[in-house]
Amino acid sequence: MAGGGGDRMQSLGYGTELFSLADAPYALLRDLIAQHTGVLFDESKRGLMADKLSELVTANGLTSFLDYYYLLRYDDQADAHWSALMNRLAVPETFFWRQPDQVHALANVVAPAHFTNHPRRPLRIWSAACCTGEEPVSIAIALAEAGLLNKYPIEILATDGSAAMVERARNGLYGDRSFRQLPEALKARYFQPDGDRWRPIERVHRGIHWGVVNLARAAEMEPFATADVIFCRNVFIYFSDDAIRRTVRVFSEHMPHDGYLFLGASESLTRLNVDLELAEIGNAFAYVKEGRRQIAEQARTSAFQATVARDAAP
Ligand SMILES: C[S@@+](CC[C@H](N)C(=O)[O-])C[C@H]1O[C@@H](n2cnc3c(N)ncnc32)[C@H](O)[C@@H]1O
Repeated sequence: MAGGGGDRMQSLGYGTELFSLADAPYALLRDLIAQHTGVLFDESKRGLMADKLSELVTANGLTSFLDYYYLLRYDDQADAHWSALMNRLAVPETFFWRQPDQVHALANVVAPAHFTNHPRRPLRIWSAACCTGEEPVSIAIALAEAGLLNKYPIEILATDGSAAMVERARNGLYGDRSFRQLPEALKARYFQPDGDRWRPIERVHRGIHWGVVNLARAAEMEPFATADVIFCRNVFIYFSDDAIRRTVRVFSEHMPHDGYLFLGASESLTRLNVDLELAEIGNAFAYVKEGRRQIAEQARTSAFQATVARDAAP
C-alpha cells in the first residue's frame, strides 16, 4: 500500500481501504495529470481523484497509486493509458441549446460579419470540448435557422480530449436529458426518432468533422486554433490556472485577428492576464484579440442580411 507513516491517507471509496491516496502519490499524480490534461484535482478534490483513478489502478492489475503514476510516466503503452484516463476524467454533462445567446450571436452577428468581410473565405468554427456533440449540433442548428448552413462555406470542427465522448458524438444518438433546453419546435425540425432516442437529421450532422484533441497539448491544438470562432465551454472550470493560460495562449496566437472565443457562463479570463479582451456580441460575450473590442462590438448584420435576402429572392 502506498504512503503511510505521518502521511495523510485518503480512502478510495467503494467502502474499502484497499488503496489509499497518500500525500506523496497524490502530489505526483495531481501534477502529472494537470500537466498532461490541464485538469487540476486540488486538495478539495483529492477524494474525487482517488475515486476516478482507483478503477484504472485495479484494471491495470496494480496495487497502488504510485505504481499507476509510474505506469503513466514510463510504460510502453503510456499513450493508451492516458487515453483511458481522459475517458475516465470526462464529465459528460452537456445538453442542446446550452447558453443559446452565444449560438445566436454566432449565427446572427459573427457569421454574417465574416461573410461580409471575407466573402470567399469559409467560416471555420471549432467546438474544442464537444463532449457527446450537443454543442456542435446546436451550432449547426443555429446556422441552419439563420439560413446559412449548406448555403455558405462553413466548417464545423468538433473535438474532445476523450475518444469515448467523440465516438458517442459521432454516433449521434441522444436521450431526453440532452433535450432539456432545446425548444420543441427545433427538436421537431432537426431530429428524428430512433428507438427510444433521437438522431439529428443528416443536414445538421453530416457537415461536422469529429476528432480527438487534447487542450493541454499545443501541437494537437494548433491546426484547429486557426478557426475563426472557438467554442471552449465548460472545460476550463476543471483546469489549473496555468493550464488555462497555456491553452488560451495557443488560441490567441493562432486565431485570426478578427477571431472569437466563447467560454462557459462561469468561466472568465479576466484575472489571468491573457492578451484577449471581452466584447459584447449580440446578447452574448466573447473574447477577441486585444484592441478589437470596439470593432467587434460594432459588427453589423444589415449589409449581410440584405445579401441573404437578395440571394433568397426568386
Ligand atoms: C462538461 S463537458 C463540456 C461540454 C460542452 N462544451 C458544453 O459546454 O456543454 C467537458 C468536456 O471537456 C473535456 N475535456 C476535459 N479535459 C480536456 C482536455 N484536456 N482536452 C480536451 N477536452 C477535455 C471532457 O472530456 C468533457 O467532454
